[in-house]
Amino acid sequence: MTSSRRNFLTAAGFSLAAGAISGSRPRLSLALGSEPSNNLQDWSIVREQFEVSRDYIHLSSFFLASHPRPVREAIEKHRQAIDDNPFMYVGRHLFEMPGQIRASVAEYLGGKPEEVALTNSTTMGLAFVYQGLPVRAGQEILTTTHDHYVHHEAIRLAAERAGATVKKIALFDDFASISEEDIVRRIIRTVSPRTRAVGITWVHSGSGLKVPGATHRAGDQGSQRRASRSGSHSSDR
Ligand SMILES: Cc1ncc(COP(=O)(O)O)c(C=O)c1O
Repeated sequence: MTSSRRNFLTAAGFSLAAGAISGSRPRLSLALGSEPSNNLQDWSIVREQFEVSRDYIHLSSFFLASHPRPVREAIEKHRQAIDDNPFMYVGRHLFEMPGQIRASVAEYLGGKPEEVALTNSTTMGLAFVYQGLPVRAGQEILTTTHDHYVHHEAIRLAAERAGATVKKIALFDDFASISEEDIVRRIIRTVSPRTRAVGITWVHSGSGLKVPGATHRAGDQGSQRRASRSGSHSSDR
């Protein structure tokens, strides 16, 4: 599946089957009330999904975002169901819902549900990933100069703890001259036998840049290069 923010909004129209919740109120279904439009190429249709004021140009959505209509409706249905019968609702969904969320995320990212971990924040997720990496003294973690502070800090702390080093490279010199080939070339030429991990953010919140497919291609080429150098595919060098 091609991943994009627009596809994600479409995919967000998931429907969760709910057990019947009895009571004086009408039965609640978690199926969303309105289907998101398929025509997400049309900006006015996308814009309609958001209730943010039209009196402003909102440039802070990377920080605090307004939910699109399907998300608002899903939140409202969960809230009503919890008001209706908190114990039964939470009891019924506590264990199955994380699995459904992981399956949706895996479909969006192109991975497997068991490869997805749910965390409270990006900061927590990055800390888990880097603190869990078996990095050894003398090895190196490669990242970019464009990455977010919390990514840099997660790498710094993990590297310090292991006695490893950190290398940061620029993926491009200016926005006008960004090219996928050049980004891949810069990553590949920096990866060495000491490189234990390469950490690259896909969508840069500082600029909105979505790094063009480079991470996959660099990963593929990098593992081929390592394989040809070392003659093996060992994942824990
Ligand atoms: C690229 C990137 N990484 C990490 C973070 C930190 O995210 P969180 O607040 O979820 O820990 C942000 C927040 O804007 C971000 O844009």
